[in-house]
Formats: sequence, C-alpha cells, structure tokens
Amino acid sequence: MKLNTLPRRLQPPSVAVLGLLALTLLASAGTAHAAQTLSIGDLHSSYNRNILYMSIAVIVMAILIFIGVSYALFYTVNKFREDKHSAAPDQFHGNNRLETVLIVVPVIIVTVITILAAHTMAIVNPTPPGALHVNATGAQFWWAFDYPDAKLSGAAGTVVNGNELVIPTGRQVAITVTAKDVIHAFWAPNLGGQRDAIPGSLKTFQIDTDQPGSYQGNCSVLCGASHANMRFKVVALPPAQYAAFIAGAAAYKAPAPSTPSTQNGYSIFMQGEDKASAAVPACASCHRIQGTPAAGAVGPDLSYFGSRDTLGAGIWEGKEREAHIEPWIKHCAAVKPGCLMPAYTDLSDADLADLKAYLLSLKLPDTAAYWGKVPVR
Ligand code: CUA
Repeated sequence: MKLNTLPRRLQPPSVAVLGLLALTLLASAGTAHAAQTLSIGDLHSSYNRNILYMSIAVIVMAILIFIGVSYALFYTVNKFREDKHSAAPDQFHGNNRLETVLIVVPVIIVTVITILAAHTMAIVNPTPPGALHVNATGAQFWWAFDYPDAKLSGAAGTVVNGNELVIPTGRQVAITVTAKDVIHAFWAPNLGGQRDAIPGSLKTFQIDTDQPGSYQGNCSVLCGASHANMRFKVVALPPAQYAAFIAGAAAYKAPAPSTPSTQNGYSIFMQGEDKASAAVPACASCHRIQGTPAAGAVGPDLSYFGSRDTLGAGIWEGKEREAHIEPWIKHCAAVKPGCLMPAYTDLSDADLADLKAYLLSLKLPDTAAYWGKVPVR
C-alpha cells in the first residue's frame, strides 16, 4: 500500500518533523561541531557517562511502571465496567493480598532507585587518588583558578589564571569551589556537574574529559548584574602539553618592557594614571603579574594576559577581545554591567594604547601557551 493512501491519522510523521527530532537529539548529544556546545550529553566525561547510565536505568524502570499501571487500569476498568442490568455490585471490605502488593512493589522500586543513585554518587563524588587539584574562586563577575599542586612541586611561581582553566585530558580534576562575595556556581556542562561557589565554604567535586578541546563554562547561579557575563573557558590539553603549560606558567616571569610604548604602559600599570594623585588606584594594587611588584589579588591575575583569548570573563574572544581592551580599561562598567573596576576616564588614548601594548606583551613561552593547540568543542 502506498503511504499517501493511508488514512491521515495513520500517516507516519513527516520528514520535517523527523528531521527536527533528529537535530534536537544531535544537539543534546553534543555532537554539533560548528559552534561551542554546552551539553551534559558530552559522553567524553566520565561524570556525564555515569549520570547517563543511571538516567537510562531509571527511565527504563519508569516506562515499565507506566506500562504496568496502564495495563492494570484498562484491565480493571474493562472487567468491572458497570452493568446496567445487574443488581447492586458485590460489597466487600478491602483485599489484603492486593494491598500488600501495592505497598511492597513501590517500596522495592524506590529501594532500587535509591541504591542506583547512591551507587552513582559513590562513583562520581569522592576525589580519586591521582586527581589533579585546582581551586576555583568565583567573584563578581569573574573566576580565579589556581593550582595548589604546582606550588607543592617546588616551582618558583604560583600558577594562577583568570577565567581560563587549563586541565589535562584523561585525568580526574578535583575542583575546590568557593566564592569571594556572593553565591556563584561553577558549571562546565561537557565536563561534569555543577557546584555552588559559596563564600566561606569549600566544596570539592570532579570534572574530566578524554577529548582535548576548549570548552565553555558559565556561572549558573544568579549573582548580580553581570551574572550572564561570568563565563569561563576550560582548555583540556593532552597530558604532555598540560605538563608544558604548568612548567612554563610556574617558571614564568613577566618580560621586562622593551619598547617606549610598553615601558609607559608598565609605568601606568604600576603607578596609576596620575602619579601625583591616589584618587584612582593603580592597576597593580588590584592585579598580579608574576615577576613584577604587582601583587594585587582583588581582580584577575594578569601574569600571561597576552597568551589569553578572552576578556571580561568570556564576553569577547580573539579579535573582538583585542578591540575591547581599551574601552574596557577606560570604563569597564560601561561595557559590562556591574563591573567593579574603577573608571580610568582621565587616561589619554595614547596611554590606553600603551597599557594595552604592555598587557599584550605578557606572554607565556610558545611551549606553554594553550590556545590554538586543541579544537573548540
Ligand atoms: Cu556568578 Cu552568576
């Protein structure tokens, strides 16, 4: 029989509907390649895989329960249908066997789901031996990442980065999350679950992936005017490249400014826009640059700003980023709502250009740089 001779309600769903469904499934499975995809269906993460296995088990049970309850309902309605010609129905008080079954079966189902959930939590929550430790601190509106393990290995400097988290592939990364001001939440969906970042509280959980790439992360708790602008990148590098990053970052010392432009930029950074007045603090009082006197911890660490790819906690990337550095320094709250950095409106365009040149000169050695070495996921 030809399809178009079928009655309308028996026609299979149209190609367009099937296509839409397939697209939705593809998108939710994280297999779209063009743009960066936020997806808890990225199964390169063991966390996401474990959650998926548990979800499938629970969904299968739910379908079986649905079929069983539907069958019982239709069976009962059909069997005990009202018969207009009969006398009054049988009167009876309860059915002990049926009631026992109706109590015992749900208890068994809930117990199985509880065991499954507890088992999954016991797999994904504990920090496994050999995990890499990273601290993530949320603040309005950016993220600080530091590597306590790098300090322990006796390296010269501290490995700290702002809004860009570098991790190795194929290894559990134990993230200890906290916050400086209000409650934020760390979430990189392709790599694992999310955790609230709460001031005064330290919470550790695991993320991981076996696929190199740069992934998108977001703050996922409303935390103020620029909550939506509190993003971060996670760059997952193969272990050898990750080791090169850590070695380069730990040994990093900011290069001395070598041109008149970067020298002026350096001087403004360290001493402020007007060396005679302290009305607006110098950049160095809030930002740190490893290997210079700048040791502020109020704003993001800028040690290798020139090797980064994002600005304003992920608002701008690449070329867009370079174009926004000067407006950002001049009046950051004008380009990012709620930005807490003071305005530097008295800086001349030439001074802004010099500051930008100095910041962009702060680069990791090529072996330690992490952008461009792995694809965008
Ligand atoms: Cu930080 Cu939302």
